[in-house]
Amino acid sequence: MSTTPTPQTTVPLIIAIDGPAGAGKSTVARRLAARLGIPYLDTGAMYRAVGLAAMRAGIEGPVDDTAAQTVARIAETHTIELDQDGHGTRVLLDGEDVSAEIRSPECALMASAVSAVSAVRRALVFAQRKAGRKRGCVMEGRDIGSVVFPDASLKVFLTADPDERARRRQRDLAQAGNEVSLEDVKRQQHQRDLQDTSRADSPLHVARGSVVVDTTGMTIEQVIERLLSELSELRESSEPRLDTNGENTIRSRNHGGLVRGRSAPIEEESS
Ligand code: DC
Repeated sequence: MSTTPTPQTTVPLIIAIDGPAGAGKSTVARRLAARLGIPYLDTGAMYRAVGLAAMRAGIEGPVDDTAAQTVARIAETHTIELDQDGHGTRVLLDGEDVSAEIRSPECALMASAVSAVSAVRRALVFAQRKAGRKRGCVMEGRDIGSVVFPDASLKVFLTADPDERARRRQRDLAQAGNEVSLEDVKRQQHQRDLQDTSRADSPLHVARGSVVVDTTGMTIEQVIERLLSELSELRESSEPRLDTNGENTIRSRNHGGLVRGRSAPIEEESS
């Protein structure tokens, strides 16, 4: 009888990080990707770019049915490119660098409004899957573990106390040159949490099989160490690979999701 082992399939390492604004997703995802030597993809930047294009087209949120058609056309026809320059994501909208402009609080709210339009989501999810599958990635957003890559190697839901999230957001905005009062940040955060968790299409929630990490009081480094240890546990529990495509592959045995860690509904931490 033949003892030739059956080759196993390997998939690029995809780490899905979801959670509300201010939970620490961007910094954690960017640094984790650098540590693992794989691309980082900030999907919120794509929704922000569509939001900016919509604002420029004179659309105001919330997006009604008529405006939804225009917004859908915007998402389908404009070119959005993301480029990592070592410090953050450079975002090009039809070749124009809009990296700073998309970080305004107005653009964040508009991004949240346009993200409720199904046709917008379809266009962006298609592009995200295509980009992520190429070389693997750490991808962050609101629906990565639930919709974009439900079979990601590791799915993480980052959350934090709403007051701490607002303080972090205010600091990030100030660093980008936007001075906003804590009260305003909290109001906008509450509005976005509500929109992002209650929309009909792909609402923000803890995807099945996610590891939930409450980052309140944790440093970025502590969060990264926690995720690296989740990853090495995952690798240890995988059988030895037969066909290695390099360091950053992991056996696809986790399709369907790991059921580990604590699962908590997002409603618990939206105030
Ligand atoms: O992560 P961010 O704050 O830059 O995201 C801006 C908005 O984009 C957010 O309020 C909701 C939307 N978004 C989404 O619906 N799905 C994603 N995967 C990422 C962001």
